[in-house]
Amino acid sequence: MKLLVLGAAGQIGHELCRRVWPADYRIAGVDRAEVDITRQEAVADTLRQERPDIVINAAAYTAVDRAESEPDVAWAVNAAGPGHLAVGCETAGIPLVHISTDYVFDGRKEAPYREDDPVNPLGVYGRSKEAGDRAVREGLPEHVIVRTAWVYSAQGHNFARTMLRLAADRPVLRVVADQIGSPTSAADAAAAIATIVQRLAAGDRNWGTYNFAGAGAVSWHGFAEAIFELASPWRGAPPRVDAITTAEYPTPAQRPANSVLDCRLIREVFGIEPRPWREALAEVIRELYETVSPSA
Ligand SMILES: NC(=O)c1ccc[n+]([C@@H]2O[C@H](COP(=O)([O-])OP(=O)(O)OC[C@H]3O[C@@H](n4cnc5c(N)ncnc54)[C@H](OP(=O)(O)O)[C@@H]3O)[C@@H](O)[C@H]2O)c1
Repeated sequence: MKLLVLGAAGQIGHELCRRVWPADYRIAGVDRAEVDITRQEAVADTLRQERPDIVINAAAYTAVDRAESEPDVAWAVNAAGPGHLAVGCETAGIPLVHISTDYVFDGRKEAPYREDDPVNPLGVYGRSKEAGDRAVREGLPEHVIVRTAWVYSAQGHNFARTMLRLAADRPVLRVVADQIGSPTSAADAAAAIATIVQRLAAGDRNWGTYNFAGAGAVSWHGFAEAIFELASPWRGAPPRVDAITTAEYPTPAQRPANSVLDCRLIREVFGIEPRPWREALAEVIRELYETVSPSA
């Protein structure tokens, strides 16, 4: 079984490539320098050369605020790119596992979002990702879209690493407390994708869109407090973290106030049970201090 992972240097891409797969699996991971998904021919050539059995797209433009001033780049990567992959996979008869985001929702729902809730993205990133999801659905029936949220890992750009970096020289941090979501470890997202891939390889045909995120919900402020609490064995007493409102922290992109994902469907269909977000965070914080330098 050969897998092709696009965006192999990103948080989820990296976890997909470094995880232990069954012995008969081969993983070809390509980063942006090797295959730029905005280039249709590069995508088609790679599919022809690599001849994978399943493709996983972990490549995306994920800079939510920067997307507001670079909409063309965001759309090329998040909307056109998945479209090229869908067409290439359809031509070659290969299923595609694509990753989507909680930011396709506007956050006005009071309960966790289900897969079939209406989308209404608030910014360029969410709109471009939503267009990418549609391109996949329209171009390739044999797809699984995994919608995830608030992704972090011991490497790459993410909220956990940003908090730890800022706290190194600021005694007080101010963090938004009126946006809630479900932090998701990139390794857990990769594990969920691996389960799906193995089910597809075994002949499963449950195509469609599935939510996967850490179990439970928390605000960015609560997430920051948990990060510092769990990091205290290495970095010492937590800094003061003041709770502020979204209005007090204006950003170029508007974000959903609630983007908690309901993950019942992925459990029912694929038997995947997200673990509590805090349990996964403890593991990543340990990795960050024991194997990666937090400032790396
Ligand atoms: N991060 C989150 O909080 C979050 C939340 C919900 C959903 N997601 C989704 O989860 C997926 C993976 O996210 P992540 O956090 O792992 O993202 P990430 O760490 O930002 O990784 C994305 C990777 O895609 C690469 N890339 C960018 N443009 C590309 C192009 N034109 N061709 C090929 N590769 C390109 C990036 O390379 P460069 O670094 O060189 O640009 C990067 O290595 C994405 O679909 C994202 O939308 C993420």
